[in-house]
Amino acid sequence: MLICLIVGARPNFMKIAPIDREFARRGIDTVLVHTGQHYDENMSDVFFQDLNMKAPDVHLNVGSGTHASQTAKIMIEFEKVCNKNDFSMVVVVGDVNSTIACTLVAKKLGIPVAHVEAGLRSFDREMPEEINRILTDSVCDLLLTPSIDGDENLRNEGVAEERIKFVGNIMIDSLFDALKRVNQIEMPYASNFDVDNYAVVTLHRPSNVDHPEKLNQLINELIEVSTKIPIIFPMHPRTRNNFNKFGKFDSLSQTKGIHVIEPLGYLDFVSLIGSSNLVITDSGGLQEETTSLGIPCLTLRENTERPITITEGTNQLISDLNMLQKAVDESLSHDSKREGKKPKFWDGNTAVRIVDAVTYHLGR
Ligand code: UD1
Repeated sequence: MLICLIVGARPNFMKIAPIDREFARRGIDTVLVHTGQHYDENMSDVFFQDLNMKAPDVHLNVGSGTHASQTAKIMIEFEKVCNKNDFSMVVVVGDVNSTIACTLVAKKLGIPVAHVEAGLRSFDREMPEEINRILTDSVCDLLLTPSIDGDENLRNEGVAEERIKFVGNIMIDSLFDALKRVNQIEMPYASNFDVDNYAVVTLHRPSNVDHPEKLNQLINELIEVSTKIPIIFPMHPRTRNNFNKFGKFDSLSQTKGIHVIEPLGYLDFVSLIGSSNLVITDSGGLQEETTSLGIPCLTLRENTERPITITEGTNQLISDLNMLQKAVDESLSHDSKREGKKPKFWDGNTAVRIVDAVTYHLGR
């Protein structure tokens, strides 16, 4: 049995790391393919160290581009890798361009594909990730869901029951593993920062950072938030590019209560959010991590593909930026020590269930 595991963008690394470790523990060989969708040291390399991952066996080095060119480049290069190997199955995670590109290639070569984090739906087809999710799920053989709403969505789309398997949230495996280790590292920026009172902001979605008017409004709102609680803002390269392009970077970075920093590695980031009082984000994974840690999360989007973080977690959607200040005030008025939440199978053992499902599917 030879399993191919795909990583490409930042949110993929913490999902594949525990799965690869579990395959290794059972003596099953894997080929780790990095598409190179993310390539900066702090968007990619640092995660391999922080997550104790083996170095990629194959690097496709595709880099940035339009959706079409990035997806196409991954397909062309990954097809060569599939033709050189005899993969029993390809495992893809999440909803990024690398996920759909590798799924299409493998399926057309007759290789079975398992999708980890299947079934999530924002029902917003303007999001490139939603297109990637729908297309990936529609052709994958094994749909491994993180929460039961995923199973419901797939059933509603007419997916046969035997393709769906509820395994739980793989991000939480990495989160729990990191929490055992973060105490040993230095809290980033502790020297010039009150470690007991700060908010973390991350933003990178096109809907928030690609339009100058929206960006302007966001800046004004964040400046107001910073008068209530200091902000640490590890800035995604896409966001930094746009702030610079629209000439807005200085107005944010020169605000006294806002600390714009480079993107952090995994352990530093877990450490940073673990001690924070509030998170404001448009990330998918962060909605889950804050739920598991019991930290209030305000998600600046009109929808979420992770509704369980609202119904069973600490997440709140802010679809109208005019509502942000009230939500911040409410979050900060509560006791900041919250209980971590545990939706079913967010227990640190998801990799075991995933490898069980894959081996069962392959009849081993
Ligand atoms: C991608 C995913 C998104 C995920 C996000 C996490 C898709 C469609 N989107 O969005 O779901 O939440 O990753 O980060 O796959 N860049 C760099 N260095 C890098 C990577 C990117 O400078 O290492 C810059 C480039 O200018 C690039 C831009 O960021 O053009 C966007 O990168 P890309 O991978 O296309 O999409 P993300 O916005 O990161």
